[in-house]
Amino acid sequence: FCLIVTIDGPAGSGKSSTAREVARRTGFNHLDTGAMYRGITVAAIEAGISPEEHSKLTKLLSSITLSFANEDGKTVLYLNDRNVSTEIRSRETSKNVSAYSAIAEVRAAMTQLQQELAHAADTVCEGRDMGTVVFPHAELKFFMVASLEERAKRRLQDLHTETISFDEMAREIAQRDTLDSTRAEAPLLEPADAYRLDTTDLTFEEQVAYIIRKIEH
Ligand code: C5P
Repeated sequence: FCLIVTIDGPAGSGKSSTAREVARRTGFNHLDTGAMYRGITVAAIEAGISPEEHSKLTKLLSSITLSFANEDGKTVLYLNDRNVSTEIRSRETSKNVSAYSAIAEVRAAMTQLQQELAHAADTVCEGRDMGTVVFPHAELKFFMVASLEERAKRRLQDLHTETISFDEMAREIAQRDTLDSTRAEAPLLEPADAYRLDTTDLTFEEQVAYIIRKIEH
């Protein structure tokens, strides 16, 4: 059977980069579930479907395919036969993703796909509800946090093409956290049985080493 490691936490806490490196060093797969919700968001916006239009969204969900592929050592996301790795990281997608990811029909479809993907190999699963809803019986769970200031700083460094001030970035992250933590469906919650990792004052190497130590234990 396959080992599942979960990493949950708010936006910019370092989950993605850490999960990617942990996966690289341990040989596990890396499942970036935020990318999947972002992919749905890109598809919905392009189709002109608003978050209120649940039945249109359900139709959309059954007509599209989301898949990950490996290209030149990088994991990329495909929406049908199109690589949308750039689109899913845009500010417009970031601003809208919480509204679409709060919808029960969207979460049901994503949860099923995530469980299928993770049961094919040992996987580090990263998102908001990995340890609570999607993989409640995961072997090892982590909850990553960092100060809002540090998270805004990191996200600014990730955005190369768009100009946005530190204050705006902090405001958008805080807003997304509030939406993700207060929604009815699978809100962002710290799993009771997770190791908590505050990365505010940790180096990237320290974060990665902490998780790998627990996996190898
Ligand atoms: O991790 P990332 O910041 O890319 O996630 C983007 C958004 O996707 C989150 O703000 C949240 O609304 C949604 N998400 C979710 N459940 C997950 C992963 C992400 O609702 N497991």
